[in-house]
Amino acid sequence: MASNNLSSSEIIALENKYGCRNYEPIPVVLSRGEGAFVWDVEGKKYYDFLSAYSAVNQGHCHPRIVAALKEQADKLTLVSRAFYSNQLGVFEKMMTETFGFDRLLAMNTGVEGGESACKIARKWGYDVKKIPDGQAKIIFAEGNFWGRTLSAISASADPMCYKGFGPYMPGFKLIPYNNIAALEKELQDPTVAAFMVEPIQGEAGTIIPDDGYLKKVRELCTKYNVLWIADEVQTGLGRTGKLLAVNYEGVKPDILILGKALSGGMLPVSAIMANNNVMDVIKPGTHGSTYGGNPLACAVAMEAIKVLLEEKLPENAEKLGHVLVEELKKIPKNKVTAIRCRGLMCAIDVHESIPAKELCLRLRDAGLITKTTHGQTLRLAPPLVITEKQLRDGAGIIRSVFDSFDK
Ligand SMILES: Cc1ncc(COP(=O)(O)O)c(C=O)c1O
Repeated sequence: MASNNLSSSEIIALENKYGCRNYEPIPVVLSRGEGAFVWDVEGKKYYDFLSAYSAVNQGHCHPRIVAALKEQADKLTLVSRAFYSNQLGVFEKMMTETFGFDRLLAMNTGVEGGESACKIARKWGYDVKKIPDGQAKIIFAEGNFWGRTLSAISASADPMCYKGFGPYMPGFKLIPYNNIAALEKELQDPTVAAFMVEPIQGEAGTIIPDDGYLKKVRELCTKYNVLWIADEVQTGLGRTGKLLAVNYEGVKPDILILGKALSGGMLPVSAIMANNNVMDVIKPGTHGSTYGGNPLACAVAMEAIKVLLEEKLPENAEKLGHVLVEELKKIPKNKVTAIRCRGLMCAIDVHESIPAKELCLRLRDAGLITKTTHGQTLRLAPPLVITEKQLRDGAGIIRSVFDSFDK
């Protein structure tokens, strides 16, 4: 049954008693969403300035994506890859034409996209680059976040992610983010198969590298015959003001990972794309997923991409990103120590005199929900369908909540 009459406190008590305590949510229990807004079970309305960590770029329950979901759900939802469905090939064609790659591999969650990219990079390392068996390395940047599997945490520099979960995946190495000299040093090692990096680090707190970093990454990976894997699970699909964040520097990775907003928040859909010289290392039986590429996911993802393009959501993010920065700059300097925004992917570092957790609770009370990352950094990433008026209104709430700390 979809609905129940439980109160917020009753629902929270249920999760506390029966759920694994792997998250510490802001205490707000949501039961409805539309566009840039969500409502709690008591009917209170909030601006959503988190967008499910950028999975809901198209806004909550976008009517076109909901319609595509319902239509396909009535016909066929899963066949596994033991058979063809009439949706997967159409989805693959649309995506590869839109993003300019030869082939697509459909998975489900973002972290499976990352896992798949790493597997393909290792196989390419052995089959094409001729790295001696068992020696392939993958380089990552400190501050990366790409999920919670054992491989992903093995690549993490954050003890909260990896501590207590060893032994870790061998063949992974970390270098500082936004550091070309460190990258070039590592790439000279002939056993390096790939460098995997986010064009802007999301969970690290919207860390934007220097202009030209991605271009240089491209050049060096080409020079040393190393695959560049761009993790655009969070930055991709309009969030930063372009369809992909790599578009800012006009460069193309060897492997592109997408997830989150690929389904507009309807169900887990991820995909990686590459050209034939890379993707063809995967042969029947060497990789897969029961749900990966299911017809429901394909139908939803195609509509989610059409919505992004036809409603010009990257352009809206680009335009409104400037508005958000302008609004956030009005917060007194002694309360916010840094503002980092690219499109509608924003973070602000809150001065230590204001406890960021308390800030989130006061924002919630004032009708806007979001969350911190790494203690004092507040994320601000509303759905890309938000209007200028709504954005300014939301920013006004944020400013007034900062003001409340004077009293
Ligand atoms: C850049 C990046 N990659 C990968 C992931 C993992 O995605 P998922 O949680 O769908 O596995 C995330 C999740 O936050 C992410 O931000």
